[in-house]
Amino acid sequence: MPNARIAGIGMYVPEQVVTNFDLEKYMETSDAWIQERTGIKERRYAKRTGETTTTMGVEAAKLAIKNAGITADEIDFIIFATLSPDYYFPGCGVLVQRAMKMKEIGALDVRNQCSGFVYALSVGDQYIRSGMYKNILVIGSDKHSFGLDFSTRGRNVSVIFGDGAGAVVLQPTEKEGQGILSTHLHCDGNSAEILAMYNPGTHANYWVDEKLADFDDAEIGQMFMSHAMVDKAQNFPFMDGPSVFKKAIVKIPEAVMEALDANKLATTDIDMLIPHQANLRISQFVQQQLGLPDSHVYNNIQRYGNTTAASIPIALYEAWAEGKIKENDIVCLASFGSGFTWGSALIRW
Ligand code: UT7
Repeated sequence: MPNARIAGIGMYVPEQVVTNFDLEKYMETSDAWIQERTGIKERRYAKRTGETTTTMGVEAAKLAIKNAGITADEIDFIIFATLSPDYYFPGCGVLVQRAMKMKEIGALDVRNQCSGFVYALSVGDQYIRSGMYKNILVIGSDKHSFGLDFSTRGRNVSVIFGDGAGAVVLQPTEKEGQGILSTHLHCDGNSAEILAMYNPGTHANYWVDEKLADFDDAEIGQMFMSHAMVDKAQNFPFMDGPSVFKKAIVKIPEAVMEALDANKLATTDIDMLIPHQANLRISQFVQQQLGLPDSHVYNNIQRYGNTTAASIPIALYEAWAEGKIKENDIVCLASFGSGFTWGSALIRW
């Protein structure tokens, strides 16, 4: 069984830079608070029209395909991870197939939020190992700026998210011990409502605490989305930030250790850790617990904020483009987010 290797990688971020000072104009927040609590200085926002989760994904994909030395025609499967799809349905994968004029190949959307890219990579890895596909395009892309509450009410969520996309092309490698060595995926659905966007959805208050989603029968009859939901800010993401933080700093190191143990490696073998870019303080906690030097952990949340499914492939691209990842290096990707979901991928580059 061949391992899957990352044959090409690409990223795309929109041109528009939004600083913390820009956000101060819309809500009660400050550059000092955002930097101290999250490390973020600025993020990118996509154009309101003409730039979508899919179009950003397509730009990242073009670069990944070019870097793999192939053409879009040679891609035989698409996996698209996002929490902010262009349409509620169909998914973004089919829109990529159309936009890139690809053959009538299969396309799969993955809905695992901040862990979306690691989950998508794991799915692609299995298809390559089984011999089913030879050139898989894996994309992580999110356009948050379209769905955030920019009033003070939503400040704990809105200041941390940004827009962007990353992509890789997976191909089989016959080189022993090369490529994706293993992936490890987890979830704890008991925490589903701690970081979530409840609507549009079919829950009709069933899962959601009444304090969070208090709709009467008439309103529920208007599913998926109603004026009442908008009035109650139910069209925006909800997050209990401190609970997410506490769990993330435990589960990310666990996922890294699980990957290392499965491959009989130690933390000292890690050449580059790419943690999901949720909060610089989370990355620093993780680094400290694993005892890794600064040069072995890549962070770029300062410039992009949290781009959810795109954060790991964007950071991976930049680390690679800056020459910080070389052939044979051990690279570990580790994520945590809504669901809760978390996971890791260990790669020999
Ligand atoms: O990507 C997936 C997962 N997401 C995460 O991993 C996020 C994890 N959580 C976090 O990163 C942090 O919890 C946040 C950055 C979201 C919040 O930081 P925190 O240090 O946990 O703050 P907090 O939520 O405990 O709030 C502390 C105070 C509150 O005011 P009071 O009640 O103490 O008066 C908040 O209202 O900070 C206030 N606050 C803000 N103040 C200025 C919350 N957001 C802001 C803001 N600007 N943007």
